[in-house]
Amino acid sequence: MPLVELHKEPDGSDNKAAFAKDVNEGLSKKAKSLSSRYFYDSRGSQLFQDIMALPEYYLTRCEFEVLTDQKEAIATHVGAEGFFHLIDLGAGDALKTKILLRELSEQQRSFDYVPVDISGHAMQQLTQRLRQELPQVQVQAVVGEYFKALEWLQENKSERKVVLFLGSNIGNFNPDESLAFLKVIRSYLGSGDKLLMGMDLRKEPKTILRAYDDASGVTAAFNLNLLRRINEELGGNFDLQQFSHYASYDPQAGAMRSYLLSRRKQEVHIEALNKKFTFGAWEAIHTENSHKYSLEQARELGQATNFSIESVFLDKNEYFADILFAVD
Ligand code: TRP
Repeated sequence: MPLVELHKEPDGSDNKAAFAKDVNEGLSKKAKSLSSRYFYDSRGSQLFQDIMALPEYYLTRCEFEVLTDQKEAIATHVGAEGFFHLIDLGAGDALKTKILLRELSEQQRSFDYVPVDISGHAMQQLTQRLRQELPQVQVQAVVGEYFKALEWLQENKSERKVVLFLGSNIGNFNPDESLAFLKVIRSYLGSGDKLLMGMDLRKEPKTILRAYDDASGVTAAFNLNLLRRINEELGGNFDLQQFSHYASYDPQAGAMRSYLLSRRKQEVHIEALNKKFTFGAWEAIHTENSHKYSLEQARELGQATNFSIESVFLDKNEYFADILFAVD
């Protein structure tokens, strides 16, 4: 039997208070915003799974291709030096990671698997599935935000670690935030430890735009789910019909930006805040940035955070890179 341990965050009032506070701050600003960390309630996590299956959302398929075609080399690189913890930040359903888990098992590498995700439901399901599909792999799921994973890294400082940060999640940080985040991760790692990070590469902007504004409207539903969540959890009265999803790409910053637009002048009341918010016609709420990198920028990021690049794994189109950063 695998070792299954669920480190759960206390949910309930604390989380709700933090959500309410963030919503209040974001909607009170002159340029309104809502934090993308609130996308992933159970409905949002499901919608994101649907996004990953969209024909337009090339990111997941490209990374799948990278991992499938180059699993042997990747597993050989990360598994070469004896026992390690494989820490998967934002694991979700781990569809992509399973390719590596299978390969590492086949190569008889010695490791345990530590998926980390904000969705407790996703972690419970993943733990159960892995028990059936890969019973030889030891799993300890961690439920929480990235800082929870960082705590875990700190507590397990003495053992070798390979951190996975797949799926272009790094792109959701602003450039200064990504630098800070990688520095913190680096500070918990030691010689021989590695970081395999997914990075969406710069490409024809139309291709990028389509990935964030699909024809069937799944991305729109995903973005609007933030408002639905405010209605449900904070007693808001957002009329979802009166907001639309809007995506735009800034080719100089390499930044894909997503917004919710108020389709008319309107007022929205949020019970938990005991407060009304006014939206002008076509006023925007910013919800997410997804940064696209050049390989040169990826190298610079590695250098600035004291990682060396051990290997770059690319798909055939060179749309997406999984970059193996190493600590010398
Ligand atoms: N992390 C994903 C990404 O940046 C999330 C995402 C996909 C997303 N589509 C979106 C976030 C649309 C906001 C709006 O690729």
